[in-house]
Amino acid sequence: MKNILVTGATGFIGSHTSVELLENGYNVIGIDNLYNSYKDVLLKIEKITKKSIKFYEGDILDYTLLKKIFKENRIDCVIHFAALKAVGESVEKPMEYYYNNVSGTLNVLNCMKEFDCKNFIYSSSATVYDKDNSIPYLENYKKSATSPYGYTKIMIEQVLNDIYVADNDFSCVMLRYFNPIGAHKSALIGENPKGIPNNLMPYICDVAMSKRKFLNVFGNDYDTIDGTGVRDYVHVVDVAKGHVEAMKYVLVSRGNIGINLGTGKGTSVLELVKCFEKVSGKKINFKICPRRDGDIGEFYADTNKAKEILGWESKFDIEDMCLDSWNYIRFNT
Ligand code: NAD
Ligand code: UFG
Repeated sequence: MKNILVTGATGFIGSHTSVELLENGYNVIGIDNLYNSYKDVLLKIEKITKKSIKFYEGDILDYTLLKKIFKENRIDCVIHFAALKAVGESVEKPMEYYYNNVSGTLNVLNCMKEFDCKNFIYSSSATVYDKDNSIPYLENYKKSATSPYGYTKIMIEQVLNDIYVADNDFSCVMLRYFNPIGAHKSALIGENPKGIPNNLMPYICDVAMSKRKFLNVFGNDYDTIDGTGVRDYVHVVDVAKGHVEAMKYVLVSRGNIGINLGTGKGTSVLELVKCFEKVSGKKINFKICPRRDGDIGEFYADTNKAKEILGWESKFDIEDMCLDSWNYIRFNT
């Protein structure tokens, strides 16, 4: 049985990926400092899979702890989710983001080197693509960022390229997620950000639960179907399954490649709101506000590389995503 170290294991994407790994017969060793997640996620994962994660509560910045994990477990592959991810906050607190996301990842990679583990899957993001690229976004497009968060992703992608150049036995897939939403069908795990949500779906859920009066729609004057921003929403369970495929690939290959995880379809803010209203029966009040700084009108993924290399395609549609997000929120808050 292969041992997979999942950093950020109790987070949104980490928890869903841990479920898929356990259900596919892999051992999961998890680490999380619970900065943006809760420990009871471990029990929920156990309830879903009837299996458990070997969990270490702690920080990837703690090299002694990382060494302990690698000493106690023969790690075959690392799937690295642990990071801070709020774009706006990263502008206010750049040092926190560079330290946690860059130094934290370097720590993990150093420890892998020390223990001769050469298989790595990195949580990258569509945010690495230069905003002037035409859509759909292709993996070989020009990269650039508009926030420290985005630069942490670009910097680590560069580090991973350089590691491969120096060591051709290194095997890595950098998965560039578009907009993961939704939740596990069991409604036991899902997205539960601490504080005020930054992203659209958690905010819609807050309005549906009457935690907030209305949704601020950031701009209705983009050159899109209805003037509101268009994104490639992808179900988190599809994203999690993409990691299992990427991991199988990484274990038998060598090299470092970037691969998009998206559906290849764009959905506007108002289309998502309408779909959510339909599946939940809840009215989502909204106000049109000015554009949000740094936003662009429309982007979605070209998904051919994921299909060709990993044999992965998304299965769930926007209705599934809205329904699963809603079920998770209404049963858990
Ligand atoms: P999340 O915040 O739910 O999960 C990240 C987890 O990492 C959290 O549980 C947090 O407590 C943990 N963590 C953070 N810093 C840590 C540290 N120093 N040591 C140990 N644990 C730490 O976020 P998510 O949505 O699951 O995102 C996972 C990864 O995917 C991140 O790297 C994020 O940048 C990337 N990503 C997410 C999205 C998205 O929209 N969700 C899009 C693109 C990329
Ligand atoms: N939006 C609103 N109101 C809100 C929140 C968002 O109208 O309260 C709009 C945005 O303007 C945008 C769309 O909804 O048009 C989606 O916004 P999100 O904040 O949910 O997602 P982004 O595409 O801006 O960014 C997300 C992650 C980034 C990641 C990017 C690409 O937050 O980290 O997807 O993967 F880089």
